[in-house]
Amino acid sequence: MTLNLRSEVERIGDEIIARRRDFHRFPELSFEEYRTAEVIAKHLTDFGIDHQTQVGKTGVVGEISFGEGPTIALRADMDALPIQEIGDLEFKSCNDGVMHACGHDGHMAMLLGTAKVLSQHKNNLRGTVRFIFQPAEEGLGGARYMIKDGCLNGVKEIYGLHLWNYQPLGEVGVKTGPVLAAADLFEIIIKGKGGHGAAPQGTIDTIVVASQLINALQTIVSRNTNPLDNTVVTIGKIQGGDNFNIIADKVKLAGTTRAYTEENRQLIKNRISEIIDGISVSFGADIVLDYEDGYPPTINHSMPTENVMKAASRVVGKGAGSPYLSMGGEDFSYYLQKIPGCFFFIGSAPDNRDVFSTPHHCSHFDIDEKALLVGSSIFLNLVEDLLA
Ligand code: NI
Repeated sequence: MTLNLRSEVERIGDEIIARRRDFHRFPELSFEEYRTAEVIAKHLTDFGIDHQTQVGKTGVVGEISFGEGPTIALRADMDALPIQEIGDLEFKSCNDGVMHACGHDGHMAMLLGTAKVLSQHKNNLRGTVRFIFQPAEEGLGGARYMIKDGCLNGVKEIYGLHLWNYQPLGEVGVKTGPVLAAADLFEIIIKGKGGHGAAPQGTIDTIVVASQLINALQTIVSRNTNPLDNTVVTIGKIQGGDNFNIIADKVKLAGTTRAYTEENRQLIKNRISEIIDGISVSFGADIVLDYEDGYPPTINHSMPTENVMKAASRVVGKGAGSPYLSMGGEDFSYYLQKIPGCFFFIGSAPDNRDVFSTPHHCSHFDIDEKALLVGSSIFLNLVEDLLA
């Protein structure tokens, strides 16, 4: 595989990698990215790039202007996960129980790399590049806080990327339309009537009710949504019962639903309620649903997606456009609800290992650091095309 990296990026490649390792060593959880924000601000100052801190709580926004022209935003997320890192990387996490296990350390390093190169090449471009360093992607929706603080004001298009260990180095996942799912969560509490395990008469056995309910909920994807659409209903947690000979009076379930369209999202939500009502009547149990909307689906716009395709093709050739889709969720979706843009995936599976050996959100997560140079190079090509 040949990577056609930008020479300016290659020249500062070691720096980009060193920054990623520094962020990796000092990971911080959502909305606690204080050191992270300080380091970003320091680098931007060194590059001579104007910036603002405490945007969207702990975010940082930098900007370079090359005079009249459109404003393009590039975004990196900043937060780490509550995971204890294992393994013996020399730049292993120093913060107990916290780890950059999704690659956001690399996202910041890539964006800083692009910013540095752009700060040194002010000729031939027309317009403005805004660098959005966003906190709290992992569940708390930091993007909403950034938008509220005006990070999209005057922006024509926005671009974001994710290191992606499910793809090998040299592949870049780019696709128009939905690429990540709406990710909702729910909790169900079933209340019945307990009793002796040998005397079920007169009881309402919530374990039996839960079993019926779980099976019935699986029919939403197999029988209600269109088989040509992508949808998921998962029950990830079931809690109830005290002993082998006691009929449980209460069971708690928790789960998540995924869909690429608002229509399917609504359909799944409604069917969960209807099925619960039906099972409740059938068994006489009291069932309460608490359903919470998570991130909306991430839906790429067509022109920006073509722009990324062009830029990525120059860097990875035929590796661009491998159509990776995921039912994961991303709060980049909030930006794409406001303005056109594209979110794409940079193949980063570590050398000589298969693409499932180091999945995201696991305690031994690591990347092929050459992917960082791929991401920075694509961002650079993109800016040059858009602000030519
Ligand atoms: Ni992530």
